[in-house]
This record gives sequence, structure tokens and C-alpha cells, in this order.
Amino acid sequence: MNTSNEKRIQWVHEYLLNLKLENALKQYYMGRKILVTGGAGAIGSNLVLALAELVGPDGRVVILDNLSSIKEKNPWNVVPLGNVMFVEGDVRDDVDLKRVFKEDITHVFHLAAFFANQNSVDYPEISAEVDIIGLIRLLEYSRLARVEKFVYASSGCAIYGSYPQLPLKEDFISMHLTTPYQINKMTGEMYCNFYAHHYDMRTINCRFFNSYGPGEVPGQYRNVIPNFIYWAMHGQVLPITGTGEETRDFAYVLDLVQGLIKSGYYQEAVGENFNLASGREISILDMAKLVNEATGNKAELTYKPRRKWDTKPRLLASIEKAEKLIRYRPMVKFEDGFKKNVEWFRDNWDVIVKMADFPPGMSSAVRDNT
Ligand SMILES: NC(=O)c1ccc[n+]([C@@H]2O[C@H](COP(=O)([O-])OP(=O)(O)OC[C@H]3O[C@@H](n4cnc5c(N)ncnc54)[C@H](O)[C@@H]3O)[C@@H](O)[C@H]2O)c1
Repeated sequence: MNTSNEKRIQWVHEYLLNLKLENALKQYYMGRKILVTGGAGAIGSNLVLALAELVGPDGRVVILDNLSSIKEKNPWNVVPLGNVMFVEGDVRDDVDLKRVFKEDITHVFHLAAFFANQNSVDYPEISAEVDIIGLIRLLEYSRLARVEKFVYASSGCAIYGSYPQLPLKEDFISMHLTTPYQINKMTGEMYCNFYAHHYDMRTINCRFFNSYGPGEVPGQYRNVIPNFIYWAMHGQVLPITGTGEETRDFAYVLDLVQGLIKSGYYQEAVGENFNLASGREISILDMAKLVNEATGNKAELTYKPRRKWDTKPRLLASIEKAEKLIRYRPMVKFEDGFKKNVEWFRDNWDVIVKMADFPPGMSSAVRDNT
């Protein structure tokens, strides 16, 4: 195992220790066989490290991931551990699903998705196949395998629609969704609700807000923070789509992992949907300045028109429901999580450069920056 992997494991272990998880929760996960779809991805790879610790040597974490998020087919984001099994495969594929469900799966964390807005605008059909058909197939296998819990990665940035009232509360519903990805995430929640209602499956919808932190490889369809760090480390101009006054509720990836682990445990979460976020608003301009400062980038910022689908000038989540239902408690201040993110980039720079996906001919708003 290389030193950067060791560091990542250490960060996850430190986080879990600081979290002071109750003993009953630790007992609950011990020895379980857990499927994480999208487990080689930004959030999934962190979740896998935490679950590998919780299930112990007699348990197993099975990853199903087709590695479509990165340029090179290489499960580099999966740390080799004795109780982690990696299956390169697709959530739409029966053969791959049969393979992973042979492992007597008890819990499913469904994180695989066709990520994200711009990607779905460019490829609406594949996006629906992965996010909707893939989900239904996985729900069917999970139902037949009688899994105890099915935790679905929904998106608070996606499903609340345009110009909602802040802070965003779970009972707000909007039909004004502006990308296929957003429509898929909303539809995904509804399918989980259907399986809960009709088959008494224990499904849980977790609505993540913008994630950042170690594990996310930059790319044309990736989030703003990894892309800004990447460009800044190349000494390039950071392109702001809009005025920079726009805000986001950036959630540190291990805080999201905390939310997932607790969602899979607390009975109160079953059949529910709730936000997982930081509960703090940060402007894109402040974030961009922080990126340039941390990386010593002297290039100016540049401003571009907002993308047509980007109709949310501000995002701030209420996390009250998650605090109440699953005792969710975000623990990492943005400034601290951000420092870890930059450190992870420095530790893994050569591999990140190889894996970063900015092909020629890209269609998103990042086109002119590479
Ligand atoms: N990152 C965020 O800010 C954010 C915000 C809200 C919701 N979410 C949701 O959280 C989940 C994880 O997000 P992430 O940032 O880790 O994304 P990610 O793209 O890094 O991870 C998703 C993983 O799924 C895999 N995948 C894609 N299609 C697949 C398929 N057909 N079969 C098997 N594997 C497939 C990819 O290779 C990737 O490793 C996604 O469902 C996403 O929609 C993420």
C-alpha cells in the first residue's frame, strides 16, 4: 500500500474516532456484507473505507463500479483492503448484478450514477438508462435478496428546482427541474418510495449537497472545487460561470459518509428523505479566492455566462431533519476540509493528472479553460 493510501485510511479512521459512534451502531455493522455501487467514485471510495472498518474482518464490502467517471480504466481510487472486493461492472447488467448478489448482500448503498447535470444534458438517454433503469434493476435484485436496508444517493442540489426558499427543507417540492440528471434523481426517490410502499423494502433517500474532499478526480463533468484546484495547480485562470456571488452548501465528503452510515443504521430513517449538507453557505468567489491562495495561483479570475440549466443562485440546506432522525452532525469546517482536499491533490498529483478527464471537444462551460 502506498503512503497516500495509508494517509487516506488514517483520515477516515480519525474521522470515525472523532465521531464517537455509539456501540450499538458498531455492533450493527460488524460482519455485514455491504454492496456499494459507485464505490470507486468520489464519495463511494470514502464510504468504502469507513464501511471496511465497521464491518470488520468477518464482513465484506463489495464494490460494483464500471469506472466510467475517470479517463483511465484503473480502480486507483479503491484502496486494496482484505475485506473489500472490487467488481468492475455495470448496474444495468444482469450478469454483473448476479455476480455481486452471490455475496449474500445485507445492505445496499446505491451511489453509482451518470454524474451529473452537464453530462446528462449531453447524453440524456444514457443518463436515464443508468440512473433510472439501473436503479430499478438494482432495487429488484435487492428485493429478491431481501436486503435489510437500501440507501439511495439522491441530490439536494438537483431535486429542489429553481428559486426555492432557503434554507431548503425536505417538504419543498418543485416540478421546475432543469436537467435530465435532476429529473432522474427525483424519479429515483419515487422508485425507492414505490419499493418501500409496495414491497415493504426499507429504503432511505439521502439528499446530498455539493460534495468536496479527497477522492474526487477533476474532469469536464465534475464539481467546481476539484476542477478549480486542478486548474489553479496548473497556474490557469479560474472560470466563474455567473457573478461569483452565487452560493453553495459545500459538504465535506466524510460528513456525507457519516450521514450514509447513520442512515443505514437508524430505524427512524427508513422510508424517509432528508438533506445531508453542511448547513453553511459559501460564495463561489470566496471559494475561488481560497483556491488561488492555497495553491499560490497568480492567474486572474474570469467570468462567463451562467449555464442555462444553472438556475439556483443560492443553495443552503436545512439539516434539521437529519439531525433529528439520524443524529447527523457535520464535523468538518469548510476551511479544514478544503486544506485536506488540497493536500490530497498534492499527494496524488501525478495520478490525478493522468485520470483527469478533459477531452478535446468537450461541450460544457469548461471548454475554453483547457
Ligand atoms: N458529488 C456530489 O456533489 C453529489 C451531490 C449530490 C448527489 N450526489 C450523488 O452521489 C453519488 C456519488 O457521487 P460521486 O460524486 O461520488 O460521483 P462519482 O461519479 O465520483 O461516482 C459514481 C461512480 O459510479 C460509477 N458508475 C457510473 N455509472 C455506472 C454504471 N452504469 N454502473 C456501475 N457504476 C457506474 C462511476 O464509475 C463512479 O465511480 C451519485 O449518485 C451522485 O449523483 C453527488
